[in-house]
Amino acid sequence: MIEARQLPFHMDRAEFEYFRSKIYSLAGISLSDAKLDLLQARLRSRVSSIGMGSFGEYRSYLESLSQTDREWETFINLLTTNKTDWFREPEHFNYIENEFLPKWFSLGKKHLSVWCAACSTGEEPYTLSLVLNEALKGTGITYSILASDIDTKVLKIAQNGVYSRNVMYQIPEKYQQTGFCLGTKEISSWMKVSKAIKGPVQFKHLNLTLQPFDLTEKFDLVLCRNVMIYFNPETVKNVVDGIYKVCDKNSVLIIAHSESLQSIHSSWKYHRPSIYFKGK
Ligand SMILES: C[S@@+](CC[C@H](N)C(=O)[O-])C[C@H]1O[C@@H](n2cnc3c(N)ncnc32)[C@H](O)[C@@H]1O
Repeated sequence: MIEARQLPFHMDRAEFEYFRSKIYSLAGISLSDAKLDLLQARLRSRVSSIGMGSFGEYRSYLESLSQTDREWETFINLLTTNKTDWFREPEHFNYIENEFLPKWFSLGKKHLSVWCAACSTGEEPYTLSLVLNEALKGTGITYSILASDIDTKVLKIAQNGVYSRNVMYQIPEKYQQTGFCLGTKEISSWMKVSKAIKGPVQFKHLNLTLQPFDLTEKFDLVLCRNVMIYFNPETVKNVVDGIYKVCDKNSVLIIAHSESLQSIHSSWKYHRPSIYFKGK
């Protein structure tokens, strides 16, 4: 006989509304009406794994928790979308190397501060580090990259810096040798980001919707890519205004090609698609 708890269970509209309002208030992630199946698929195994047999039971459980309960961290981790790649949207890295850096050099600064504001599993900040390590070689200029995300699970992967060698094809050849230590024998299908590339990158748990940001540094360059697509215009405005406040006067903000600040009233000045300036 099949026990009731083993039967597949479904999310009704009221439960969907509850979970969607929670992820919006906790992370700013806006889910459209069409995302019921997605929410259901992301939460179902969690509900089963903690021994519950319905979304209603999970909802009541969440309602009974204090705001600081660790279950909220799991809830957020389950509902974030973490897709990323090495050298994703490569034009941005060409821009940094060939246009941003020459202009930044003319300011005469000796340290470049970069913030990668939704870093997922680390490919984006390490890509930046590969590019900056090469471009700043022999200049006497140092750099640091703050890499942050709301999702604690991806941050652990990022901090670990170990990736499957299957993705090596995404990395231009000139960076492959200095950037990675290749595993041998039983770990030969893995590669580890080298010390020189990992050293300048610091990871931090940070929710872009909680402001003011707990940051003291002033950044020269911020990458905030492929996260604002999950936010509504009001949240996007809050996030980019918050980023503006922690940036140096000549800094540059890079967002994803699929994102835009055109309809947002912010102080960022449009330079060209996906690139914004704080100063002129
Ligand atoms: C699709 S990934 C993009 C990763 C990388 N920036 C890229 O372009 O490849 C979006 C990331 O944003 C993070 N995220 C979502 N909401 C967030 C928030 N409120 N604060 C900080 N990070 C958030 C997710 O955890 C996820 O890792």
